[in-house]
Amino acid sequence: MKKVFVKSYGCQMNVYDAERMADMLATEGYSETKAMEEADLVILNTCHIREKAAEKVYSELGRVRELKKEREASGQETKVVVAGCVAQAEGKEILRRAPAVDVVVGPQNYHNLPALLNKSRSERVVDTEFPIEDKFDHLPAPSKARTRSRGVSAFLTIQEGCDKFCTFCVVPYTRGAEVSRPVAKILDEALRLADAGVRELTLIGQNVNAYHGEGPDGSVWSLGRLLHRLAEVPGIARLRYTTSHPRDMDDELIAAHRDLPAVMPYLHLPVQSGSDRILDVMNRKHTGDEYRRLIERIRKAQPRLALSSDFIVGFPGETDAEFEETMRLVADVGFASSFSFKYSPRPGTPAAEIDAQVPEPVKAERLARLQNLLEIQRQAFNHGTVGQTLDVLLEKPGRHPGQMAGKSPYLQAVQIETDRHAVGEIVTVRITQAGSNSLFGEWVGPGSQVAA
Ligand code: SAH
Ligand code: SF4
Ligand code: F3S
Repeated sequence: MKKVFVKSYGCQMNVYDAERMADMLATEGYSETKAMEEADLVILNTCHIREKAAEKVYSELGRVRELKKEREASGQETKVVVAGCVAQAEGKEILRRAPAVDVVVGPQNYHNLPALLNKSRSERVVDTEFPIEDKFDHLPAPSKARTRSRGVSAFLTIQEGCDKFCTFCVVPYTRGAEVSRPVAKILDEALRLADAGVRELTLIGQNVNAYHGEGPDGSVWSLGRLLHRLAEVPGIARLRYTTSHPRDMDDELIAAHRDLPAVMPYLHLPVQSGSDRILDVMNRKHTGDEYRRLIERIRKAQPRLALSSDFIVGFPGETDAEFEETMRLVADVGFASSFSFKYSPRPGTPAAEIDAQVPEPVKAERLARLQNLLEIQRQAFNHGTVGQTLDVLLEKPGRHPGQMAGKSPYLQAVQIETDRHAVGEIVTVRITQAGSNSLFGEWVGPGSQVAA
């Protein structure tokens, strides 16, 4: 049997795509390996979001080239595929820079992989045209055993692409225009996942809350309505969704946080900056105060909400005072967890053309200050859950024998001492201690969260 090694960089969309590629190749006779050295087919599923992410691919390809040569010397062939967002953004350029690469395939084209691999026997191939047909219609569903092996929490792509064109971001170019999958297709996939033991679905999309898919009755469904339907799927106890844009948090979605126990009290809602001028130049289409008021409304619907965000520091032209406004917004709102980045100019994006780029040391200093504040807030949030009883979805054996690891509703990792519970159970746990990366707790009873 031939072996495939897939490595994914970047966001959850890539994790999901990597699984779909492996599923498809399984039907072509490939088994998955975690050791690149023994792979007949190496796939790098790449990310273009920041320069560092994109450059990582080329250093990895250097390593792959050595491997390919070594295997060749012992009479073994290795095919090398670059997929994902760098593939989409750079296309042919990758063939020029990386001689080891046989196939370059974009995120909307990977259903063509078997045909492309075939073609690559005689020539190096690039497939990055945005296709008319929907790749999802061509992707085989994984076997129940494969789904089971991936655990009780699964990603489900419901929406792809982005029409927002924030001036710093490559996603609208690498992933194309916004497309929502029809409700019936999503429901089929959810039923199949639940049937294989999945208890928690994370609906994913670059702009997931802009979801507007065709319903079974032909009308357009919002994310709020879709969540109501998915909450009825037998076995599914928890629903999450990511990533959302503040402009698309509509009333129906906010109400779902109040009305559906399955919708977890956790929300990743990137704000990027606290300065109105910077937000405007970023083309985010909202102000800092609009974000504050929005959070107030969501917290009114779900007072236990744990909030998370992405931030960019050192956007072109960002002054000290404007950066302080970001610090103020963080202090005002309070975040349970966050991701923060130094602005990275990306080729082809409007912000990269702005003259007033912020010097690297200034970016570094701002990032350190912001991350320090965010870390204090994260620790405070985690310590605040000590003494509380929380539902924990058990996901896998814990670090030590007799322990299990799971997730709280707030997406915190929780370790509990137990030898009588199974993966996939939701149990009630009293949190006894907060470590730097996970919580510790003791079992107090069966979970209150029952599956539909
Ligand atoms: N669709 C999501 C996020 C997509 S990218 C949203 O609208 O928020 C994930 C995060 O990467 C972004 O939220 C942003 O914080 C960061 N990011 C995107 N482009 C960047 C760039 N050029 N430099 C630094 N960070 C960037
Ligand atoms: Fe990028 Fe903005 Fe679209 Fe998010 S909303 S993917 S940051 S362009
Ligand atoms: Fe990266 Fe593409 Fe995701 S650029 S963040 S892998 S959409």
